[in-house]
Amino acid sequence: MNWYAEKIFPYLVNRVCSSELAMQIKKKVVPLSTGKVLEIGMGTGANLSLYHQEKVEFIWGLEPSAGMRQQAASKLEKSDILVKWLELPGEKIPLENDSVDTIVLTFTLCSIPDWKSALQQMHRVLKPEGRLLFCEHGRAPETHVQKWQDRLTPLWKKVSGGCHLNRPIDQYLQETGFQCHHLEKTYLEKAPRIAGYMYYGEASK
Ligand SMILES: C[S@@+](CC[C@H](N)C(=O)[O-])C[C@H]1O[C@@H](n2cnc3c(N)ncnc32)[C@H](O)[C@@H]1O
Repeated sequence: MNWYAEKIFPYLVNRVCSSELAMQIKKKVVPLSTGKVLEIGMGTGANLSLYHQEKVEFIWGLEPSAGMRQQAASKLEKSDILVKWLELPGEKIPLENDSVDTIVLTFTLCSIPDWKSALQQMHRVLKPEGRLLFCEHGRAPETHVQKWQDRLTPLWKKVSGGCHLNRPIDQYLQETGFQCHHLEKTYLEKAPRIAGYMYYGEASK
């Protein structure tokens, strides 16, 4: 399992999260980042090309998987933006209160085991005037799709690094004290409905 988790899965994530389809939707939020940025679940660094170098001071790249960080190495070398790795999960953000200007969360909340603690930690470290930029797949609006999302999640989690298909992203943000200023929900074109209902936008505390 470790071999799969540390070698094969990061390779697959790199392919999927750098695909045209994924980048198209991440482009709607990542370029809005400014100042000191904290990217949660930075993965293989697929978002690096979407930041505007002149608006970003540096990025804290929080990523618990060594395999993902390894896959990201070549992109970090080529980037003009400094990335400081935080080799911990989102439930344990080792930063001071009110210290981050922008938190970036793309295709990651689905995989964090304790989503509540992780969002509470993000709320703690975000500056009062800071922004959480998110782009996540989650619970679909139709009951028949939700049923399949609930049925398939236990199996899906096992092969996809703990990814849940059925998380209501906007509800989780609200429950942990975030206010969404901008929220769009839509199906990704060409993606299966169970995994393609997107929530993206901007929130603050
Ligand atoms: C599908 S990938 C998305 C990667 C990246 N955000 C992107 O959009 O290209 C999910 C990422 O979440 C990370 N992850 C898993 N559990 C986590 C946790 N508890 N805290 C933070 N990140 C986690 C995984 O290692 C993986 O890099």
